[in-house]
Parts: sequence; structure tokens; C-alpha cells
Amino acid sequence: MSTRETWNNRYAELDIAYGLEPNQFLKQELEKLTPGYLLLPGEGEGRNAIWAAKQGWRPLAFDYSVEALNKALKWSAREKVRVMYNLTDAENFRPYWKFDAIGLISFHMDRESRKAFHKKLASWLNPGGHVILECFHPEQLPRTSGGPKVEELLPDPEDLKQDFEGLTITHFAIAETELNEGPLHQGLAKVIRIVAQKD
Ligand SMILES: C[S@@+](CC[C@H](N)C(=O)[O-])C[C@H]1O[C@@H](n2cnc3c(N)ncnc32)[C@H](O)[C@@H]1O
Repeated sequence: MSTRETWNNRYAELDIAYGLEPNQFLKQELEKLTPGYLLLPGEGEGRNAIWAAKQGWRPLAFDYSVEALNKALKWSAREKVRVMYNLTDAENFRPYWKFDAIGLISFHMDRESRKAFHKKLASWLNPGGHVILECFHPEQLPRTSGGPKVEELLPDPEDLKQDFEGLTITHFAIAETELNEGPLHQGLAKVIRIVAQKD
């Protein structure tokens, strides 16, 4: 199971783990929306937040890895963009404002923690706000192109879909995608993609 310590070690060892470009699905979906407040849970080194800030979004990222936070803040300072970043685990994160979009990118938790976290998301969205999710499919387990190597962290697609039953699902797909996201996401991967909107 990945722990905070594992993530800290990973980020400390690698110059950049997930590349310098934003996740392509998140980018594609955010480009359809008017920029506003964006929440990025488990944001790691900041690639999505920094790109989004440059497009006019106001990103609030969080992660429980201090190495990730330090890298993201240094990178955003170099780029001269404003990224707010909290050091917290998902369970204890409490937002002070609402969001127009929430981007969940490769953010894997065990089923119980995931369900509890996803349940809160609708109340954190403004009316019309979107959840944009991309995560690895269970069939990704034996592949070396990225993702957790722990079965429990890879959600069943239909079960994952049910997490968002309070929202309108506008996009649901299981896709094979060629990842080129730094040393840890490289090659053909099987992912689940969801976009869900609050009424
Ligand atoms: C695969 S990385 C993805 C990073 C980022 N979303 C991206 O697209 O580059 C997963 C991140 O989630 C963080 N993370 C995992 N479980 C977490 C939890 N329960 N609370 C907060 N952060 C967590 C890890 O520290 C790591 O930075």
C-alpha cells in the first residue's frame, strides 16, 4: 500500500515524477469550461495546478506529501503563477470556499476512504460545477505503464460511477491511452474517465 512516506521518498528520488505537462484528459475537459475555482486533491508536484493557473483558473491543491508540496511551490514560484497548496490528507481536508471544478487525477484510495471522500465532493461544488476524474482501471494491475500495484486501490468502474450518483454523469468511459507523463506514467494504460456535473 502506498503511504505518505512512500510518496515522499518517490518525490525526493526523482527530479520530476509525472512530467511537466498537465494530464491530457483534465486539460481537455477544463478547456471546455469557464475558468473559476479549481480543487486538485492529491496534486503531487503541481503540473495540473500550474497549467490551470496559467489558463486563468484559481487552483487550490492539496497532498499529504511535503516533498510534493515543496516541489509544487518552488515550480509555481519559478513560473510566477499563484497556486494555493495545502498539506493534508484527504480525510482531514476541509475547503473554505466552493469550486467550479474538481480534478481527480490518478488519485487512488482504498474503497472505504474513496467512497467517504467522493461523498463530500458534491457539497464542495458550485451549482453547475464539474468533477473530472481519470484513474487506472483494475486491468492496469499487471502493466508497467503506471498506477498502483495494489488491487484494492484500483476501483471497479461501475462501483466508482455510483460514487457520483448525486451528480449528473455527462461522460463515462473506459479507455486505452498512451501515457507520456514523466518516468512513472509511460506507455499504453487502461483508465477510467468520468465527468460529473452538479445541477
Ligand atoms: C499518482 S500521484 C498523482 C499526482 C497528481 N494528481 C498528478 O496528476 O500528477 C498521487 C498523489 O496523491 C497523493 N495522495 C495519495 N493518497 C493521499 C491521501 N489520502 N491524502 C492526500 N494525498 C494523497 C500522493 O502523495 C501523490 O502525490
